[in-house]
Amino acid sequence: MVSNNQLFHLFLFLCFFQITCLHAQLCTQEQSSALLQFKQQFSFNNDASYNCAHYGIHSYPKMESWKEDSDCCSWDGVECDNNTSQVIGLDLSCSWLNGTIHPNTTIFYYFPHLQSLNLAFNDFGMSRISSEFSRFTRLTHLNLSDSSFSGKVPIEVSFLSNLVSLDLSSNYDLRLEEPGFELLVQNLTKVRELNLRYVNISSVVSNSLLNLTSLTLLDLSFCGLRGKFPDGIFHLPHLNELRIWYNLALTGYFPEFINSSSPLQYLDLSYINFSGELPDSIGNLKSLKFLRASYCKFYGSIPTSLGNLTEMTYLGIEYNNFTGMLPSSLSNLGNLIYLVVEGNNFEGKIADFLPNVKSLLYLYVGSNSFSGPFPSFGANLTKLVELGLSNIQLRGPLPSQIIGLPNLTWLSLDDNLINGTIPSWVFSLPALEYFNLSNNKLTGYVKEFKSAHLIIVDLSNNNLHGRFPSSTFKLVNLSSLILSSNNFSGELDMLCHAISIQILVLSSNSFNGSIPQCLGNFNRYFFILDLRKNNFSGTIPDTFAKENGFETINLDSNGFEGPVPKSLENCKTLQVLDLGRNKFSDKFPYWLGNLTWLQVLILRSNKFHGPIPNSKFKIPFPRLRVMDLSNNNFTGPLPRKYFKNLNAMMNVDEASFQLTYLGMLGGSTYYYNDCLTIVIKGSTIEMVKVLTIFTVIDLSKNNFEGQIPQIIGKLNSIRGLNLSHNSLTGHIPASLANLTMLEWLDLSSNKLTGEIPQQLKNLKSLEVLNLSRNQLVGPIPQGNQFDTFLNGSYIDNLALCGLPLLNACSPRTPQPPPLMFQQEDNTSSGFNWEVILPGYICGLAWGLVMGYFMFFRGKAQWLVRIIEGERNKSGKRFKKQSHRNRAR
Ligand SMILES: *[C@@H]1O[C@H](CO)[C@@H](O)[C@H](O)[C@H]1NC(C)=O
Ligand SMILES: *[C@@H]1O[C@H](CO)[C@@H](O)[C@H](O)[C@H]1NC(C)=O
Ligand SMILES: *[C@@H]1O[C@H](CO)[C@@H](O)[C@H](O)[C@H]1NC(C)=O
Ligand SMILES: *[C@@H]1O[C@H](CO)[C@@H](O)[C@H](O)[C@H]1NC(C)=O
Ligand SMILES: *[C@@H]1O[C@H](CO)[C@@H](O)[C@H](O)[C@H]1NC(C)=O
Ligand SMILES: *[C@@H]1O[C@H](CO)[C@@H](O)[C@H](O)[C@H]1NC(C)=O
Ligand SMILES: *[C@@H]1O[C@H](CO)[C@@H](O)[C@H](O)[C@H]1NC(C)=O
Ligand SMILES: *[C@@H]1O[C@H](CO)[C@@H](O)[C@H](O)[C@H]1NC(C)=O
Ligand SMILES: *[C@@H]1O[C@H](CO)[C@@H](O)[C@H](O)[C@H]1NC(C)=O
Repeated sequence: MVSNNQLFHLFLFLCFFQITCLHAQLCTQEQSSALLQFKQQFSFNNDASYNCAHYGIHSYPKMESWKEDSDCCSWDGVECDNNTSQVIGLDLSCSWLNGTIHPNTTIFYYFPHLQSLNLAFNDFGMSRISSEFSRFTRLTHLNLSDSSFSGKVPIEVSFLSNLVSLDLSSNYDLRLEEPGFELLVQNLTKVRELNLRYVNISSVVSNSLLNLTSLTLLDLSFCGLRGKFPDGIFHLPHLNELRIWYNLALTGYFPEFINSSSPLQYLDLSYINFSGELPDSIGNLKSLKFLRASYCKFYGSIPTSLGNLTEMTYLGIEYNNFTGMLPSSLSNLGNLIYLVVEGNNFEGKIADFLPNVKSLLYLYVGSNSFSGPFPSFGANLTKLVELGLSNIQLRGPLPSQIIGLPNLTWLSLDDNLINGTIPSWVFSLPALEYFNLSNNKLTGYVKEFKSAHLIIVDLSNNNLHGRFPSSTFKLVNLSSLILSSNNFSGELDMLCHAISIQILVLSSNSFNGSIPQCLGNFNRYFFILDLRKNNFSGTIPDTFAKENGFETINLDSNGFEGPVPKSLENCKTLQVLDLGRNKFSDKFPYWLGNLTWLQVLILRSNKFHGPIPNSKFKIPFPRLRVMDLSNNNFTGPLPRKYFKNLNAMMNVDEASFQLTYLGMLGGSTYYYNDCLTIVIKGSTIEMVKVLTIFTVIDLSKNNFEGQIPQIIGKLNSIRGLNLSHNSLTGHIPASLANLTMLEWLDLSSNKLTGEIPQQLKNLKSLEVLNLSRNQLVGPIPQGNQFDTFLNGSYIDNLALCGLPLLNACSPRTPQPPPLMFQQEDNTSSGFNWEVILPGYICGLAWGLVMGYFMFFRGKAQWLVRIIEGERNKSGKRFKKQSHRNRAR
């Protein structure tokens, strides 16, 4: 007999058993401790998942919920099979992981059932992708994107033949060496999503890709692909997204889509070497929502059939060679949000060109061959958020009235022929943030800005005049104000209100008054202060705070006086200091030698005086390339110690230098060009682009005395040396012959004696030589560049002889033997410094990297997702670029 009691106990026992069983079923001890061990490899740091926020993904340390006494199947990011209790999925994306993944990592050994592994958006500190990943033979989804993996992708990844989705995108220097790409493509026959963006493949596109008939997404952007892109890939039956942008050597055409019912929705063909016309059959891509075919070599007119693609939201065909007008059929694109056609050869009246698409938010039509006056937007484009009408020869005045553009944040009208005054609607656009009217023919006063959100205002190169409303500085978001080359006047009294200012360029106007005391207290984002060519006066406030971020301070051609403020030594990031053409009165500010980033120091035409003291710093001015102290009252010997240490003027390996210019890249929204007035080969020249290999020393028009030190021959990278109009004595040092880059040398009006060293013949780049008004004697060197100099180079000396002078040398002076091919290379190898590259002006260049600038302004997350792809959230460039900007 079994009692109720006993039954009850049995029941309890069974229950207990059941529960233990159930518990055992949930997570094996082995897997649990393997995961905990894995966790211990990392530290957790918000920054490791920095890019998640940029894509609108919330990041947090998922592993924090991983505790020993709980069931691992319940842990955040862990997924188990309900029946077998094996871990089948690990999602640790955006989990702040910072550490290295070694091949001996536990997860490789205890999770043979894993089907899905997502480690994206962490920082694995340049870990290699281990060949042990091939142990996950059942893996269908592997995502290692944007996690700082590097090095060679192991061939073993291609063993994972069950993969349906593979994402290795946006890592640093990840390589898929031959035959890796081929093997991968041959073996992953089930793959539907393949994202290798930024993986360096550097080969032709494998035809085996055509066998991957399940592909829905293929991203091979930034892979260094070359050769002809196989047309067939466009026709893969399920392909939805094809992104192959930025493969500069990849050739091909836009394929025909005859009778096709292509599922293509996203097509990014920009920055590749595709050419030809867009075919009519493009109208068959009925599902197409996104088409970017910019920065290629497409030409011809836009097919009318594009108007059939009514799903289209994004059409970007900028910087090709398209011609004609946009077809009126585009007005059927009722979903079009983004239209960029800049930089083509479109022509006709701009008013006729603009499509009547009410949904448009972003419209860029600049740099085409349009004509006609400013178009009327009527009631049709009132939703516009950004409008680019740069460089299209817009003529005549802006209309005095415009019917509401309430959401317009970006308006660029620069580089046109707009005249008349700026109508008041412009100043009151309620949402305006970016406003560019530079390079037009506008006249009249500027009224008060009522657009409270303004961030960048550029009115440079017009004929605007009158007191600039200094209340503008009260706009709390104002970061850049560019007013150069107008006739504005007024004082900077309100500058202290400009709490967000980063770039202030007021050059070539009639501003006056002194600089307010608050100047040095600005935050470290105030980079550029350019007040050249105004009527400013007074002393510079000695208030530069320790944490300031100035990179350029240019006060050239004003009436500033007094000493150079000592607190400038706090400007640790200063690169350009131009105090030229003022009334500064001081001893040489030797303490500037401690500013290790300083590249340009111009003190020309002031009242500096006294000897140049020996520097207290071990290596003063280590990066100085332009040193102009001319036309002051400096005395004493030439600064020998400085010559010895100007490292940036010695042994510059120019071949390894990119031809870069002095300036600053601001995200990708703008580029600031430093502008300098420099005397080159005797002429004063406004350099609008200053090559960073441009190196000169100008100490002319002072009272330097004593000899020219031999050591000057160490500065073998300088292009120009001017020591004229001093009281230098002694011989011309033969070491000058080491300055093989020298293009001009001026030693005139000194008291130099002795002969001209024959070695100077080695100066094969020398174009201008002036040795006149000294006490030189003996034969003028003959041959090479010396055959090109005229009398003027030598006049007023004691007893020079030989060509080009008329008095021949007396026979007992030995002449060098004549050279067989004297004129072999008298063409200068030097750059033509005067060349002003088209499109470059002092100040700001806007939106240089079209298609990018919206990326970096937080608001356009939707666009980031479109261009970068919904799933493949890459932010590599963003991370890298911001590093680069600050790392100079
Ligand atoms: C990761 O950790 C290393 C060493 O602790 C540290 O130097 C680095 O800055 C961290 N990386 C991130 C992105 O936090
Ligand atoms: C396991 O069970 C949970 C809850 O019942 C369910 O949400 C999940 O989809 C199941 N997973 C699998 C792989 O069947
Ligand atoms: C794994 O390998 C790394 C580097 O080879 C080593 O530093 C670490 O101690 C190893 N860890 C274990 C658990 O063996
Ligand atoms: C394909 O994968 C299998 C294992 O699944 C492996 O044995 C074979 O070597 C792979 N082939 C290539 C070409 O990678
Ligand atoms: C495509 O697959 C077929 C059948 O598996 C094979 O014979 C052919 O070589 C493959 N083509 C390429 C280009 O790899
Ligand atoms: C575009 O649509 C028009 C009218 O619906 C049609 O006649 C034409 O054939 C279509 N063109 C293409 C290329 O689909
Ligand atoms: C662009 O097209 C025009 C007219 O077809 C042609 O004259 C011009 O050379 C082309 N420009 C380039 C850069 O291909
Ligand atoms: C604006 O839209 C109306 C009606 O949709 C149309 O008649 C008119 O031509 C459009 N204006 C412009 C400038 O496109
Ligand atoms: C301006 O933007 C707001 C907010 O996005 C929106 O509600 C409004 O409809 C827009 N106005 C116009 C004219 O498009």
